[in-house]
Amino acid sequence: MSTDRPRKALIPAAGRGTRFLPLTKAVPKELAPIVTTPTLEIVIGEAADNDISEVLLVVSAGKTAINEYFAPAPELEAALEAKGDEAGLAAVRRPTELATISYVEQKEPRGLGHAIGHGKDFAAGEPLAVLLPDDLIDDRDALLGPMLDVYAEHGGIVLGLIDVGPVEISKYGCVVPAEGADPEGDVVAISDLVEKPEAGEAPSTLAIIGRYVLPPEIFAALDETEPGAGGEIQITDAMRNLCNAGTPVHGVVFRGRRYDTGDRLEYVKAVVQLAVRHPDIGADFQAWLRDYEPTDG
Ligand code: UTP
Repeated sequence: MSTDRPRKALIPAAGRGTRFLPLTKAVPKELAPIVTTPTLEIVIGEAADNDISEVLLVVSAGKTAINEYFAPAPELEAALEAKGDEAGLAAVRRPTELATISYVEQKEPRGLGHAIGHGKDFAAGEPLAVLLPDDLIDDRDALLGPMLDVYAEHGGIVLGLIDVGPVEISKYGCVVPAEGADPEGDVVAISDLVEKPEAGEAPSTLAIIGRYVLPPEIFAALDETEPGAGGEIQITDAMRNLCNAGTPVHGVVFRGRRYDTGDRLEYVKAVVQLAVRHPDIGADFQAWLRDYEPTDG
């Protein structure tokens, strides 16, 4: 099967972000900054870099900060223009120019599958790339592009995977490589999915990360998926049903640099790793970091 590369992306941003309380009382974690750029903008940039120009953001009820961030700010722009602040102006306009963004509200955070289910009208029969905004992929490394290529070749479901080793795998959704598939290869055919397998019983060490390409059939599969743990509708359950019904599933194994900004410690590490490359402050920060020694006071 050969088809077109997907042109649309859904980004879920309606979770409670409990690991980032108290900030997330008022600020969605997707707006948490890497220096000054929200993680959500970085992920929309990744979609745009891969020729995805239409983005649907799933947002939570009553929270307007995300919509405001991606809307034009004419007064601010006029003030920056009057000052001749070209760099400021470009930075303020960038989020409004990356893609055509639309919004849908998820009234209650009932899980990733439930959030993705809100994309049916937006997808309108086309495949969707789904990008989780707390998984950042370094812009020097490629994951989404190869995934879109695999979709164009095989259709079905395409998953972003990383090899996390035998200990960590029980924290992740895990894939079962198809018979004859080379688990060391860059593209792996998959015969089944297992959510958080017991250590020692995992069928592979390949974990699903926050990049998916999903075919239009995913919406019917989500409608038929019963809520699982915590009343949440799990995307893995819906994908598993499609897989068992014969939809092809492939994984692209990512061996590049990835930052998990949904975890507090990993978020702080990501800020440091990306701040040392920042065009304005990177060199000074790196010099300071070299000499930095924590003190008691
Ligand atoms: P996470 O599980 O990392 O986000 O979901 P969370 O639930 O907000 O975080 P914690 O665990 O409470 O700290 C991954 C992505 O899916 C979105 C989240 O906003 C996040 O971007 N999500 C999750 C939804 O949009 N709706 C949901 O019901 C659940």
